Amino acid sequence: MDRRHALASLGASLVGAACAPLPVTARPAPDAPASPAVPPLAVPLGETPPGDPFWAMVRAQYPLTHDRVYFNTGGLGPATYSALDTTARITAELQRLSETGHNLLEASRAPIAAFFGCGEDELAFTRNATEANSTVASGLKSLGPGDEVLFDAHAHPGGSIPWMSRAVQYGIVCRIFEPDAPTPDELVARIEAALTPRTRVISVSHITAPTGILLPIAQIAELARRRGLWLHVDGAQSAGMVPVDVKAMGCDSYGTSGHKWLGAPHGTGVLYVRKERLDEIAPTEVGAYSDNGTFDLPSTLSYAPSARRFEPGTRNVALIAGMAAAVAFMSQIGMERVKGYGHALARRAAAGLRSIPGVTVLSPAHPALATSITTLKMANVPYDRLYNYLIGTHKLRCRIVTERGLDAVRVSTHLFNNEDEVDRLIGAVATAARDGVPG
Ligand SMILES: Cc1ncc(COP(=O)(O)O)c(C=O)c1O
Repeated sequence: MDRRHALASLGASLVGAACAPLPVTARPAPDAPASPAVPPLAVPLGETPPGDPFWAMVRAQYPLTHDRVYFNTGGLGPATYSALDTTARITAELQRLSETGHNLLEASRAPIAAFFGCGEDELAFTRNATEANSTVASGLKSLGPGDEVLFDAHAHPGGSIPWMSRAVQYGIVCRIFEPDAPTPDELVARIEAALTPRTRVISVSHITAPTGILLPIAQIAELARRRGLWLHVDGAQSAGMVPVDVKAMGCDSYGTSGHKWLGAPHGTGVLYVRKERLDEIAPTEVGAYSDNGTFDLPSTLSYAPSARRFEPGTRNVALIAGMAAAVAFMSQIGMERVKGYGHALARRAAAGLRSIPGVTVLSPAHPALATSITTLKMANVPYDRLYNYLIGTHKLRCRIVTERGLDAVRVSTHLFNNEDEVDRLIGAVATAARDGVPG
């Protein structure tokens, strides 16, 4: 029996469940907190600026503690009750039946592919952005010794090390450009100036992790097309912060994590590869499900005719269903609304912080480059002391930025934050600027 038939013969309840919610049968563990009755989210048709009561309703969808203010979505984002409950419910049901539920993957793939604007056959589930980036960096066939990959100097190790490792192992050459440009045009000009006849790939953060610069991907894609280059986008900071339409962006591949701005469970991510270019990436991690469904020894191997070839072996289907629930939540609110709110809070933070003597905001001032990330530095307080002061004294959870010697503190503002929290941050930094922070 080939695997397709084996899948079809799985328990009828699971096959049917691919389209319908699984029944709740498991009891929570005795001391596991049960989800409170969360008020249903009614999304208004009109504008919902910061201060609109709608955002308090959004905040109520998260189990995120109120004991501190969470400003580190760029590191790890909290999930909603709905995403966590979906994951727990499917985990329980699959454990009860002792089935992998592999067939349920397809029920999650359609809405998640739609969220990113690609075809289902162009989307593979990964454990995180790093794995997606690595699949592209280790697999691109066109790269030989001496060929060059250009990436931004603010790339996260999850975006740079996959290329650096290929350089160590196979002799490609990595070059970097500085993405902290005053305008989008200047940024693209810097990329163009860094290209050489040996450049084969441009790999960029969609939004940079250290200071939150939004890269003009459509413009960079146009350049890449003109020069015959592969464009890979590391979207770890963009999925769930801004609308992402990979086709409109025009990139060849895009990888992201689910567990940041999207609010999916930990250990989720996706890789998009443009259908026409799928065969240009040699699958490096392969096994059952990478084939076209008919493989049996001693026949030759034919890969799955889709990005599913990058998804070998048994998967945690419940996590992916949780990601589908996160996507549904974001879509219900609307990604333009989510982006507008997070960016508005960041603008408030940046304006307040810039008005404090001795404080420098490193995030872009240009509106086309600015995002929901605000990174700051103080003249009189070292970044690590500032970080400890904000979390220790004021219960404001930010993140330090040591990359590229920036030695700063990063603040991520997302849909569960609010203006009062931002004002608390500004007040705390103002106090630190005035009184200093004891070491
Ligand atoms: C731009 C970027 N790429 C990749 C990563 C790595 O993410 P993950 O650990 O989910 O693979 C991060 C994490 O912060 C990031 O900001």
